[in-house]
Amino acid sequence: MKLDHVAIAVSSLEEVEKLYSDLGMAVTGREDIPEEGLRVAFIKVGETRIELLESTDPSSAVAKFLVSHGPGLHHIALAVSDIKRSLEELKERGYRLIDEEPREGAAGKLIAFVHPKATGGVLLELCGEPPANGGAQK
Ligand code: CO
Repeated sequence: MKLDHVAIAVSSLEEVEKLYSDLGMAVTGREDIPEEGLRVAFIKVGETRIELLESTDPSSAVAKFLVSHGPGLHHIALAVSDIKRSLEELKERGYRLIDEEPREGAAGKLIAFVHPKATGGVLLELCGEPPANGGAQK
């Protein structure tokens, strides 16, 4: 298991990207995710990444987060070897999940969120590789 990324909700990607580039770090990618009302920037930090999340739609989850919490830590993401099994185990043990089944996230990965009430207050994302046969797993 490893830390896949740490995600920070920001008001302006450009503003926060500047800090990391002033620290000598490279922004390694940008992605528009219109269906989630998001613009994302990735900053590589060794084996892991910082993701900056900017809302492009006032009804997006990140826009709502910014209204209620202000900018700041949005979630951390752990890469797990078998996301379906991890979810089943958490469910069996009674943890509150946001996604009971993995769904497709950025870069073709499977993701699922665990509710912050179950994790000490920080939204937790589990990330897994899609099945090797490429078949749709719903
Ligand atoms: Co994430």
